[in-house]
Amino acid sequence: MAKTYQIAVIPGDGTGPEVVAEGLKVLEAAAKKFEFHLNFTHYNIGGDNYIATGQILPDDVVESLEKVDAIFLGAIGHPDVRPGILEKGILLNMRFHFDQYINLRPVKLYEGVSTPLKNKGPEDIDFVVIRENTEGLYAGAGGVLKKGTPDEVAVQESINTRKGVERCIRYAFDYCRKRNKGKKVTLCGKTNVLTFAFDLWERAFYEVAKEYPDIQTDYAHVDATCMWMVKNPEWFDVIVTDNMFGDIITDLGAMIQGGMGIAAGGNINPEGVSMFEPIGGSAPKYTGMGIINPMAAISSGQLMLETLGETDAASLIEKAVIKVLREDLKDIAAGKMGYSTSEVGDLVKEFIENQP
Ligand code: IPM
Ligand code: MN
Repeated sequence: MAKTYQIAVIPGDGTGPEVVAEGLKVLEAAAKKFEFHLNFTHYNIGGDNYIATGQILPDDVVESLEKVDAIFLGAIGHPDVRPGILEKGILLNMRFHFDQYINLRPVKLYEGVSTPLKNKGPEDIDFVVIRENTEGLYAGAGGVLKKGTPDEVAVQESINTRKGVERCIRYAFDYCRKRNKGKKVTLCGKTNVLTFAFDLWERAFYEVAKEYPDIQTDYAHVDATCMWMVKNPEWFDVIVTDNMFGDIITDLGAMIQGGMGIAAGGNINPEGVSMFEPIGGSAPKYTGMGIINPMAAISSGQLMLETLGETDAASLIEKAVIKVLREDLKDIAAGKMGYSTSEVGDLVKEFIENQP
């Protein structure tokens, strides 16, 4: 019997719904081709719903999300809601609640997409960042004293547990082995200053590395990582890093792979419910204009199928993305795709449908 996956869809705010619609279009085409079913259930969560109802992430929603095979998310963030409320209340809350301890962010320059890096091409820019996704500065440890007075004190601490660090590092090595490309994992840290946190990371890294004699290890401080990502991106295969550094370097990664319209991501709990999202935000000022590139959402769908084990369908989506980027779309980086958001989705979908 054909397999059916229960997928929760959270289109969210701004341009989220527009790109999610294209992601779903493509997912459906891929499922049809490979004879499995995707049962989509939509959830109205995000800034508009918060403004209308005062609810951020209701318990009954969380309860039903616990039963799905995966979550497909558009974007969270609303210009009329104070920064932090939705991000912490929805996005981070879900990452923590579902223990999605991996944030997987491929940085891959496809043919036909321009990069701001001079003299670098698709053969140079193809690596993956494995970002720890439940700890570090994001854990919310700390507090404030005497707020609003001249004596105010604000403390925000980075939490690093042996368990959390080790499982992330192990995932990175496993992923590197499976990816079978450069066979190298680079730890991105700051051992010269953050001597407690990254000492733990470093020890865990080299201990885990012993279990993977086929994989080369490397280390780079986070500032140097930024430099090498611009100067010699071809040096990287898999980068593993903490939550905050991973957040920062993956925006840089998105830029060198052609922009936020391309960059896909997965919040992964290998033993639980994972959530897939384009890493660009809700882009409120472009909402409803049909000009946002849906490729990041489409590639997030690809990552979702890969994680669900539908690897052939995932590969076909990538093949379609490659074809459309190479042959159809114009200057993405300049914001001129030559097609509307939904036309781009149609091109990808048609390629999939037309495969033998
Ligand atoms: C990301 C985003 C989030 C993060 C924000 C919206 C909380 O920037 O997914 O990278 O910092 O993780
Ligand atoms: Mn970010």
